[in-house]
Amino acid sequence: MATATAETPAARPWSDAAMSPDARAALLLAQMTQDEKFQLIRSYYAGPDRPADKPMPTGAIASAGYVPPIERLGIPALKESDAGLGVASSTRMRPGDYATPLPAGPVTAASWDPQVAYRGGAMIGGEAHRKGFNVLLAGGVNLMREPRNGRNFEYAGEDPLLSGTIVGEAIRGVESAHVISTIKHFALNDQETGRDTISAQIGEQAMRESDLLAFELAIERGKPGSVMCAYNKVNGDWACENDYLMNQLLKGDWKYPGFVMSDWGGVHSAAKAVNAGLDQESAGEIFDKQLYFDAPLRDALAKGEVKQARLDNMVQRILRSMFAAGLFEHPATKAPIDEAANLAVARETLEAGAVLLRNEHDVLPLDAAKLGSLAVIGAHADKGVIAGGGSSLVSAKGGNAVPGIAPTAWPGPVMYHPYAPLTALRAMAPKASVQFAEGDDLAAAAALAAKSDVAVVFVQKWQAESIDAKDLSLPDNQDALVAAVAKANPRTIVVLENGGPVAMPWLDQVGAVLEVWYPGGDAGTGIANLLSGKVNPSGRLPLSWPRDVSQLPRPALPGAGGGTPPASVDYAIEGADVGYRWFQSRGIKPLFPFGYGLSYTRFAHGPLKLATHDNQVHAVVEVSNTGHRAGAEVAQVYVQVPGAKAHRLAGYAKVFLRPGEHRTLSIPLERRLLADFDTAKHAWVLRGGDYQVVEGRSSDDLGQPVTLKLAPAQL
Ligand code: BGC
Repeated sequence: MATATAETPAARPWSDAAMSPDARAALLLAQMTQDEKFQLIRSYYAGPDRPADKPMPTGAIASAGYVPPIERLGIPALKESDAGLGVASSTRMRPGDYATPLPAGPVTAASWDPQVAYRGGAMIGGEAHRKGFNVLLAGGVNLMREPRNGRNFEYAGEDPLLSGTIVGEAIRGVESAHVISTIKHFALNDQETGRDTISAQIGEQAMRESDLLAFELAIERGKPGSVMCAYNKVNGDWACENDYLMNQLLKGDWKYPGFVMSDWGGVHSAAKAVNAGLDQESAGEIFDKQLYFDAPLRDALAKGEVKQARLDNMVQRILRSMFAAGLFEHPATKAPIDEAANLAVARETLEAGAVLLRNEHDVLPLDAAKLGSLAVIGAHADKGVIAGGGSSLVSAKGGNAVPGIAPTAWPGPVMYHPYAPLTALRAMAPKASVQFAEGDDLAAAAALAAKSDVAVVFVQKWQAESIDAKDLSLPDNQDALVAAVAKANPRTIVVLENGGPVAMPWLDQVGAVLEVWYPGGDAGTGIANLLSGKVNPSGRLPLSWPRDVSQLPRPALPGAGGGTPPASVDYAIEGADVGYRWFQSRGIKPLFPFGYGLSYTRFAHGPLKLATHDNQVHAVVEVSNTGHRAGAEVAQVYVQVPGAKAHRLAGYAKVFLRPGEHRTLSIPLERRLLADFDTAKHAWVLRGGDYQVVEGRSSDDLGQPVTLKLAPAQL
């Protein structure tokens, strides 16, 4: 008679989904051989561009990473794909494969709507699962300290509360699809220039109250199965061997139960990294100087530099996240995707997060029925909308609408998603003459604008992973294009497709500006809906829009655009005062403040009241739609702690209101935004005293402050 062993399902007690993920992981771990443990703590690179002598491991889907299954014990493979804007890796690597691209991260953040973020996460997580992936390298939450950062389009702006809550919800959405989400890049990888060498220098209090607070909030809310440590150093130590970040903070203070995976090429040691808290080396056989988490780690174990208990803990953490996300019960297998439904999620994200920056004399919304002629100009709007470059780039159905633009290789290709605004604008105004001009011939563009009722000029700035912008300017003579068109027709509307803030020397000359960033799936329709008023813009900037680089904490970005980057970047200049806090504390007026955005209707905000229940302070405010169109408004609650020069966003809520409708909102204030991080006490501490609480429409458009008296306390 055969006896039940771990090889037979009957003897796999960890299969009991009623047990906690940790208990299940412990049972399974106890059955594993040392070689099986070593198999789980490293992934292989699964790109088809592997060298010939290192063929792709069998079973891997072309993508970012692969951990082979351990069939003896029924442990599924980990199939890892980028990233936060959709299933990127496999669609870029396999000709003909495609996925639904979400708009850029700042769009989701600009929605100020956690439900929008959750739906987007669930959509891309669901697509990943149906393409056979059970790990999505999604959850970018690096703060926008550097507006030139080439990856700002993967993140969620400058504010810890907004970024943390929005990215947390996106992660929760991904994990709801039985896919592990990987929050990244931990931490302070806030610029791409010198990302493999540079050390981010910043004090503990400042980082706890800014970048690390964004991670803390997003991890609490989203419960990602993994954390990706970053390429850079933090205070001199590589992020992937940083004891403070991984051991003390993440696993210690935050009690994070999941695993830390490295960024691809982010590991520099075996024993030091492992003892500092790194649990899995990603694609080390290709990207690291050597594969550390095999022979060198076995050596370190043999010498006693790494304890067996630590290796077991690494495996326990990986298994635990696999159980928690349901990877055993819900295997990721190929299944049909509802493309129309998913495109609608992408489009609705854009519609919730596009920001109307300017609208003089109500040039918008366009009255499509009355429009005789419309000029559409620039940025290949006849073919599609541009996307950001690098590992997060999703290839959409139909492929690249404008192939061949340099760089065509990493971090390219420059990709235009095939959702042409021109087609959608023609459908919006079927009776109008809607004509297109490329925009490279300024005179032709101006002539078309002059004979049209309205001109819509699309401008773009391609940004990408691994390279920062040299400055804030628009490339390719587009400033001159906008100026020429605006001169020919004052009813000029600019639609911005960009990764971060750009200078707008022509701003005063144009009628309207709509910010759509990289607008993603079905963007043409979304843009037409926003311009025609079918959808009322309700996005609010998740970042401060500087007038020029002289306003920034670091006007220069040495090494961007060439030259050797410096060994370190000084984030102590602004410390925790990232973005609007920097502007406010220095008395600088940005071009557009954090939280800013216009609507086609008007809102009134009632007086602010404070209420405390369950030990939580709430801001209570009535918001009314006093205009003639339905629309959504964001109530933003800021706090000025005693002695501070700047405000901090401490709570927010978005509300949709029909004309004449009003709603009373009760907005809980996040206690850590009222507190300071005390490094001596190693705790969040309320200074006590008079806190000024204020509600408003942006960080610069605030109502009457109300004083909140708080006693000193430790949270
Ligand atoms: C990026 C990560 C990405 C990884 C895998 C790295 O270059 O920094 O964000 O997840 O590659 O593609």
